[in-house]
Amino acid sequence: MAKLVRRAMRSKKLTCVSIAFFLLLCQFVQLEAQLQVGFYTSSCPLAEFIVKYEVSKGFFSDRGVAAGLVRMHFHDCFVRGCDASVLIDSTSSSTAEKDSTANNPSLRGFEVIDNAKARLETLCQGKVSCADIIAFAARDSIEITGGLGYDVPAGRKDGKVSLSSEASANLPAPTFNVNQLTQAFANKGLTQEEMVTLSGAHTIGRSHCTSFTTRLYNFNATTNQDPSLDPLYASQLRQQCPKGSTIPNLVVPMNPGSSATMDSGYYMDVLANRGLFTSDQTLLTNQDTADQVNQNAMNVFLWRRKLAAAMVKMGQIGVKKDDTGEIRSNCRKIN
Ligand SMILES: *[C@@H]1O[C@H](CO)[C@@H](O)[C@H](O)[C@H]1NC(C)=O
Repeated sequence: MAKLVRRAMRSKKLTCVSIAFFLLLCQFVQLEAQLQVGFYTSSCPLAEFIVKYEVSKGFFSDRGVAAGLVRMHFHDCFVRGCDASVLIDSTSSSTAEKDSTANNPSLRGFEVIDNAKARLETLCQGKVSCADIIAFAARDSIEITGGLGYDVPAGRKDGKVSLSSEASANLPAPTFNVNQLTQAFANKGLTQEEMVTLSGAHTIGRSHCTSFTTRLYNFNATTNQDPSLDPLYASQLRQQCPKGSTIPNLVVPMNPGSSATMDSGYYMDVLANRGLFTSDQTLLTNQDTADQVNQNAMNVFLWRRKLAAAMVKMGQIGVKKDDTGEIRSNCRKIN
């Protein structure tokens, strides 16, 4: 009798295991099939073209918009997945991601997304998600600044929640060291090498002084200036970002030698102790990340390919395809 019960239990366990395996397989297949290159080919054939047009229009009136849009995709994907939660406006009862200190006042490019969305709603109402518009716009921004273009798998839906607290909890800070950075990217399924590759996007754009002035004026109890920062660069930065300045939104270019081009200038800067943030300079403190900085500095073609691949992978974080998402008609508001 006991033997029989045991056998029955064993076979039940086996069935459970095989069901679990089957479910896992289904999930895997589903994950693989989640996004699709050319997703709008029949539902809105001009979608990608219109986004590209709006990105170039924005870029030619303000080149900094390109860096803004790459950063927007990153800040979207790291918080609740790539679901355009970063675009939702705060309401009287809820402070949204875009108003967290990580995003406000530094995040920009919103008008490019709004313009593209408005045209797409006129042309093919309710078809193109805001999350996909951000993903396309980030790709176009990389391309327009001399990076490598790549196919963007699409079909994301837009999320219905945006919380400021989640932005600060998920976005890596400019003060992070290499271990904290690695962990923040690992939390999103990205490798340390992809973290180094994506950091290279700091080769374009600008930064608010507040993101690094600690390195210039009050590093620690024994030294005001971060010893890992080139002293000449530090003195230039002190002129651009005076201590205790009350000028709002004071900014400096990242990679000042070529701050509008997707070149390997960022990695050259880091090698010369001219990485602007702690989170840039820290890449030299670990053997593996330092090796990659070297490689990328020496081979810009390799880096551009790696960047394209890492952007595609980042663009798949936490994607929604079902009823947990929707196609917003206005990117700033839940339907
Ligand atoms: C300040 O930083 C320097 C350089 O990293 C270090 O040598 C020193 O020990 C630090 N001092 C304190 C009090 O943490």
